[in-house]
Amino acid sequence: MHEPILPQTRRHWLTQAGAAMLAPAFVRHARAADVPRFALGVASGQPRERSIVLWTRVTGADLPAQVSVRWELARDERFTDVAARGVEAALVDDAHSVHAEAAGLEPGRWYWYRFEALGQRSPNGRTRTAPRADAAASLRFALASCQRFDHGHYAAWRHVASADLDFVLFVGDYIYEYPSPPVAVRYHEGGLVRTLEQYRARYAQYKSDPSLQAAHAAMPWLLVWDDHEVDNDYANLQGQGLQADFREQRAAAYRAYWEHMPFPKARRPIGPDMRIYGRTDWGSLACIHAIDDRQYRDVQVCPKPGRGGSNTVRLRDCPELLNPQRTLLGAAQERWLADSWDLQRRWNLLAQQTLMARFTWTDPEQATYWTDGWDGYAPARRRLLQTVAERKVPGVVVLGGDVHANYVADLKADYDDPRGAVVASEFCGTSITSRGLAQDRVDAALRHNPHVHYGRADQRGYVACRLDAGTLHASLMVVDKPEDPNSAVGAAARFVVEAARPGAKVA
Ligand SMILES: [Fe+2]
Repeated sequence: MHEPILPQTRRHWLTQAGAAMLAPAFVRHARAADVPRFALGVASGQPRERSIVLWTRVTGADLPAQVSVRWELARDERFTDVAARGVEAALVDDAHSVHAEAAGLEPGRWYWYRFEALGQRSPNGRTRTAPRADAAASLRFALASCQRFDHGHYAAWRHVASADLDFVLFVGDYIYEYPSPPVAVRYHEGGLVRTLEQYRARYAQYKSDPSLQAAHAAMPWLLVWDDHEVDNDYANLQGQGLQADFREQRAAAYRAYWEHMPFPKARRPIGPDMRIYGRTDWGSLACIHAIDDRQYRDVQVCPKPGRGGSNTVRLRDCPELLNPQRTLLGAAQERWLADSWDLQRRWNLLAQQTLMARFTWTDPEQATYWTDGWDGYAPARRRLLQTVAERKVPGVVVLGGDVHANYVADLKADYDDPRGAVVASEFCGTSITSRGLAQDRVDAALRHNPHVHYGRADQRGYVACRLDAGTLHASLMVVDKPEDPNSAVGAAARFVVEAARPGAKVA
């Protein structure tokens, strides 16, 4: 199936990186024993014009409280032309994670980086800076989410690692907190995750996967979390099971998330709080607003008796759904987003967790909604999209995940008006591995949601996006066999959006 053709130098580098990951003998001094020190790979994130965050975590049960880790970042893959280097202290308190910030870099170029500690050298990573603010850039990225380890192998990540992309945009469910069922494709180690040690171990297991490591090593990632990094369907400081110690659980989960992701040191959580929302600019072409719909939301209304979390309810049985006081982003983040919309650049990409388009599971007369997504917070959705319409924000494309299905939809401020204007476009990308609903349920619902042009819960994969000043192309990349780490991956459908006209069309 589809395999991009790579220039020779890039293919050469990828082959080397792949070989390094398969063979754990990177560079090893005689005394360094057999414990791999970089078993979880490397990663980079937060690409800015002049800086990038480099991540690794030193591994091994025998580590001292503090490990000195050297890093270097070079303009070439042989590391003959070093642009920046430094030393970081990897501390036991931070699970020996490293969050190095390489600054003073050139905008819009690729770099290579690596770490060294305890006589071993990490695999090489490749990363890049954002283009200069006035550069007429183009952009290619992979939209991905939901990589439940025991539901499949990461053929999608293997494909992403070899694709010609600028970054990965990951919109949540990096880990799942559940124990594995008795029969699975592969198995979570340990049971239900609740403590800091358990979250750390779960991240370490996910990050042991060579295809995921390759996708991190190949390019920077922009990341937001969703619920499973903490607890299914949690809302603010309420867990799904209404557990009494949920504040401590969230603090542990956020801490482990920061420890394992390429966020800067300044984002280290304080207790149960960590700011992840923010904005990335890409030349004069686009800005990417990444938002957090978990940490600050009002709790879901009309839950199942005796518990928190989501429910699927008829609007007439749950009029609280229409309460305009309720918020999905929290007041401060809503204001931040309203101020962040960019009226100069051609594209405003909104990276967020879940499906934004209205989606009723029954005929509109019965109006049946799932309360965890934007349908549970419809007045907040209307506020957001009304701002987009009133201020004529250019090229708004909402990018989501969470629901383990590919949805392509038109976004309207007023879904009750059949002639209401389309104000933005939406691609809700399917999961890397996590299983979705039965397709016949989605098929039955699609006819009640005419603004949703495509809905496939039976596809696993990612969305490959490519945009220039005029057009965004989105290819829904689908894995043939999710249980096969070497499965073929190919485009199941292609769509285009014109920057000047909201709404996705079949390419
Ligand atoms: Fe998920």
